[in-house]
Amino acid sequence: MVHPEGTESPPGLVQHRPEPPARIVVLVSGSGTNLQALIDAERADEGRPADTAFGGTIVAVGADRTGIQGLERAEQAGIPTFALRVKDFATREDWDRALRDKVAEYRPDLVVSAGFMKLLGPDFLAAFGGRVINTHPALSPSFPGMHGPADALAYGVKITGCTVFFVAGGVDDGPVIAQAAVAVEDDDDVDTLHERIKTAERALLVDVVGRLARLGWTIDIGKRKVTLP
Ligand code: GAR
Repeated sequence: MVHPEGTESPPGLVQHRPEPPARIVVLVSGSGTNLQALIDAERADEGRPADTAFGGTIVAVGADRTGIQGLERAEQAGIPTFALRVKDFATREDWDRALRDKVAEYRPDLVVSAGFMKLLGPDFLAAFGGRVINTHPALSPSFPGMHGPADALAYGVKITGCTVFFVAGGVDDGPVIAQAAVAVEDDDDVDTLHERIKTAERALLVDVVGRLARLGWTIDIGKRKVTLP
């Protein structure tokens, strides 16, 4: 396969080795605490030697809606923002292509879907396939979708957690990069459980994004195996 920068990979493998610092576009739909963790990690780089640095720079933050805390966090950090609402486009496919074109303007090495509550469509993934990651508040393949913590609680599991994975087109089902386990407590409700998951999730996402940015990655599509050198 030849990826958009023109580096050739063996068949069935997707390889990316970003030039440091890796350019990152983050997509959000809500409170943006995962985004904030990434912003804080990048800020902590200031004055640090390159070999201990986070390795990425957030070049833009996009959303599928306006008036959300996620966009405010980006604006406060001086990061360019954009919002593209599905309802402003004639079709979902038009929205997907507009999102692709807007994100492409920022030439990202990595797109991070951090609480972005829309499925990315085929045109978007054709442009950025193998470079889009997502974070989900459950241990995949359990409890995909919008209500991971509620579904875990309703099922009665004792362990749940979070999963960071490469987006492959389905619902929370792409090749897994990393997971963290979180215990369900007897007195948990959806909010307390989700908050505890999000604490683990933010640390996991910062760790994964930093390692992808610094080291690059390889995805063996057939084996669903992700390796970071
Ligand atoms: C996160 O827990 C994320 O995993 C979840 O939305 C939350 C966003 O929080 N995403 C999904 O459920 C996607 N299936 P944040 O806006 O505070 O970062």
